[in-house]
Amino acid sequence: MTTDARGRVLRDLRLSVTDRCNFRCTYCMPRDVFGPGFAFLPREELLSFEELVRITRVAARLGTRKVRLTGGEPLLRRDLPDLVAGLVAVDGVEDVALTTNGALLRRHAARLREAGLHRVTVSLDSLDDATFRRMSDVDLPVTTVLDGIAAAVEVGFAVKVNVVVKRGVNDDGILDLADWGRRRGHTVRFIEFMDVGATNGWRMADVVPAEEILATVGARWELSPVPPAVRGEVASRYRYVDGGGEVGLIASVTRPFCGACSRARVSAIGELFTCLFAVRGHDLRAVLRSGGSDADLEAAMAGVWHVRDDRYSEERTAGTGAPVGDARVEMSYIGG
Ligand code: GTP
Ligand code: 5AD
Ligand code: SF4
Ligand code: SF4
Repeated sequence: MTTDARGRVLRDLRLSVTDRCNFRCTYCMPRDVFGPGFAFLPREELLSFEELVRITRVAARLGTRKVRLTGGEPLLRRDLPDLVAGLVAVDGVEDVALTTNGALLRRHAARLREAGLHRVTVSLDSLDDATFRRMSDVDLPVTTVLDGIAAAVEVGFAVKVNVVVKRGVNDDGILDLADWGRRRGHTVRFIEFMDVGATNGWRMADVVPAEEILATVGARWELSPVPPAVRGEVASRYRYVDGGGEVGLIASVTRPFCGACSRARVSAIGELFTCLFAVRGHDLRAVLRSGGSDADLEAAMAGVWHVRDDRYSEERTAGTGAPVGDARVEMSYIGG
């Protein structure tokens, strides 16, 4: 089992399959930066599905059990179900999940299910159409995303919903989303707006602390904490005592969870990042494309993981981190 400089295992692999997205969420890809002139990665630079499966096979040998497909918006990548089929067949991989904005889910849900995808997480910041449009800065009704979620349920997926909460923007919809999740059987996870990347204009004043969200939900329905299913889980889980399912809180700002962080990220062009807040990655594509064997790739990945010392969120909260400011890589590039 490969461990890093802090004794943390490499349990989760998050693969970004594209840096493009059909949304322009203000907290992720603000339109004034990611507008028509923005230089996205050229398609020919992207890792092929064969290369992504190969990286996953090697990661599995190093201890990876969970794989998550992210982006950008992963459903923009053509034939994504073919990649899913390749990933679920990798020895050691127990869980393959997809994070999507849901807009294209109705179109792809059935094929994803047939390919063997295990789980789907949909990002949805509000049930209110105007608020949804304002936050995702897209000309699309919220009903399209709701219909995408319905399509995923129809084909048999359990769907979790991620809500990024911004003060004064969508925090008035917390109870509506919680209530909707209870009625539909979706675990809704409220995420603190994070200072990831360098373009989203993050301010602490925009963060609604998870404690406050918990108090809001808990005042309406009695909650009881659920112990983490696995070590290093990002969400603190609570169950509704009346049997209404579960709700989660992701307190990356006020209660960071670096201590057991087992997540490695790979950008769409094959750079290995050991932290969401990293400034640079390690080029795995060069190893793949220079004729390197699986053993070479394994040595490269293990070498990076062995010296990994990242704990950005904890350092930020403690005020001990070196400022990295503008140099930080964007979440749409590295993968949520
Ligand atoms: P499950 O396996 O379903 O629990 O998924 P997950 O916990 O990996 O959660 P998901 O991929 O849905 O991530 C939810 C959100 O948590 C992400 O969108 C990020 O905002 C945040 N997050 C995930 N991983 C990290 C991490 O390593 N560091 C920080 N700071 N935030 C993270
Ligand atoms: N803070 C918190 N969560 C974010 N996401 C994207 N940007 C941010 C941010 N600045 C979330 C999305 C999605 C996942 C991929 O990451 O809402 O659920
Ligand atoms: Fe696209 Fe997701 Fe970023 Fe929104 S959060 S812009 S849907 S990648
Ligand atoms: Fe892991 Fe970095 Fe997030 Fe901490 S800030 S939990 S080390 S990805």
